[in-house]
Amino acid sequence: MAITKAAITAVAGFVPEDVLTNFDLEKMVETNDEWIVSRTGIKQRHIVKDPKKATSDMVVSSIQKLVEKTGLDLDTVDMIIVGTVTGDYPFPDTANIVAHKVGAKNAFGYDINAACSGFIFSLFTAAQFIETGFYKKILVCGADQMSSILNYEDRNTCILFGDGAGVVLLEPKTDGTGIFDAILKGDGAGCELLHMKAGGSMNPATLETVANKEHYAHQEGRQVFKAAIVGMADSIQELLDKNNMDVNEIDWLIPHQANKRIMLGVADKLDYPHEKVLINIEKYGNTTAGTIPLCLRDFEHKFKKGDTIVLTAFGGGFTWGSILVKWAY
Ligand code: UT7
Repeated sequence: MAITKAAITAVAGFVPEDVLTNFDLEKMVETNDEWIVSRTGIKQRHIVKDPKKATSDMVVSSIQKLVEKTGLDLDTVDMIIVGTVTGDYPFPDTANIVAHKVGAKNAFGYDINAACSGFIFSLFTAAQFIETGFYKKILVCGADQMSSILNYEDRNTCILFGDGAGVVLLEPKTDGTGIFDAILKGDGAGCELLHMKAGGSMNPATLETVANKEHYAHQEGRQVFKAAIVGMADSIQELLDKNNMDVNEIDWLIPHQANKRIMLGVADKLDYPHEKVLINIEKYGNTTAGTIPLCLRDFEHKFKKGDTIVLTAFGGGFTWGSILVKWAY
């Protein structure tokens, strides 16, 4: 009997209209375009300016684009998972808000909070529901409105991140395509190096936490940089070893877009050609859970049925890992 795998059968994404360039940031903090481009590869990022919009709205726009592209009947969607650290509210979860807004009335869902690994963790979670035959259609979303948790007086973080969302449709396939394997990891010791200090049960919001600017993302960049290269490269190697594969069998590598130097560092550690590493960080910056689905959207035209694609991510938690995909279309 043919083995059922969960396959990505469509992709779409959305970034808000407003653009924040490096030159704009030069007027806000002590930085410059040359430093940002040479240290990160980022030239601009898209930012939600409308105070009435939140992460769910970017996800909704992504799903609407997917529906326009594919004609998907949202009544047939079983489940919606949203990878995000910037949900509309601490609770309820954004996935339910999204299901309501798009009118996916038969779908249940929830959010996965795994920072920059949010999309790959969500994707592999969703794949289990498809492989077991429990569900047939799942929308897996990665989205973050990072501008809502950035201190635009802190040059260590505000130059790095942007807002954006992406979505994939996951369906069963028995033709040798789909999600084949994953190595997923976590290490809570990383919490102190990348976190938002207040707003949770450890430090609930008070006038003091607001005055101390503790409701913003905090990152020890240099330490995260090193851990990200090692984490992504090692998880890719483990995935390859587990599947008796050589790195050259990967047709496309899609890393989480945190820093161009990190992505090329991962490639160098694996002796993998730079031209097969798909990079769009120059346009969007780091959209946290949004980066990988936005890459799938931007580079979809390059993929052929049967291509071997590895998705890899590293982020807050620490969380990290890699997924092995055989492209389905
Ligand atoms: O996926 C998880 C999410 N995040 C990441 O993966 C990000 C990981 N980290 C990084 O991408 C990099 O560490 C950064 C881009 C944040 C920083 O790059 P770096 O090459 O590690 O720079 P650095 O922190 O070592 O700083 C080098 C210099 C310092 O000056 P001195 O001490 O050499 O005089 C910084 O003060 O650059 C200075 N600097 C800046 N200069 C201009 C730091 N930020 C800026 C800035 N503009 N925005």
